[in-house]
Amino acid sequence: MILTTKRLTLRPPQPGDEAKLYPIASDPEVSRYMKRPGHRDVGETSAYLLTAVNLIRSGRGYLWVIETQGDDEVIGSMSASYDQGPHCVVFGGFLGRACWRRGYGLEAAQAVLGWLQSVPHIYRVAAQTDVMNEPINRLVTKLGLTCEGRLGRAWPGHDGELPRDVYQWAWCR
Ligand SMILES: CC(C)(COP(=O)(O)OP(=O)(O)OC[C@H]1O[C@@H](n2cnc3c(N)ncnc32)[C@H](O)[C@@H]1OP(=O)(O)O)[C@@H](O)C(=O)NCCC(=O)NCCS
Repeated sequence: MILTTKRLTLRPPQPGDEAKLYPIASDPEVSRYMKRPGHRDVGETSAYLLTAVNLIRSGRGYLWVIETQGDDEVIGSMSASYDQGPHCVVFGGFLGRACWRRGYGLEAAQAVLGWLQSVPHIYRVAAQTDVMNEPINRLVTKLGLTCEGRLGRAWPGHDGELPRDVYQWAWCR
């Protein structure tokens, strides 16, 4: 499944992506507000991609590596996995710090959401975000997701921090 936007290509993972994604996935600024902490070594990025490939092969989800068109530079990834059955997916993603605030996040998320909305059996597309994560909270608002509430202490804290509150967002058919 390849998705293209004006400036980006979203494609399935391929050999060699772990080395390109690891510098992004291990950046503490990138993982600061994510559910899981940053990758500690490139093996963790390989395992993450392998899990994603298995998810895709078994029809339990999707993962797209995001590249800028023209130079094919890997700038991040987005994933979506089935949750509570085939009618519902949960999605999320990250981009390298060097390309934040250029509209790439919104562009990639619009492509993924648009595609998920076109799948007839998907009735719900959901996301959870740290309440302190201003960029993603603005992004999902611009995407048109509805905020369904705030879940207290739902995500673990990183590195001894307290568990964090998250917003629950969704689009429903
Ligand atoms: C969340 C993320 C993907 C956004 O990507 P991005 O390409 O920088 O976002 P965009 O440029 O498309 O901007 C989307 C909106 O967020 C706003 N925004 C982006 N960065 C912001 C910041 N640091 N502070 C406040 N608003 C910000 C933009 O202004 C824009 O809103 P606007 O058009 O109303 O101004 C990116 O910040 C990221 O990868 N963060 C780390 C990983 C992460 O937290 N992922 C979410 C896991 S749930």
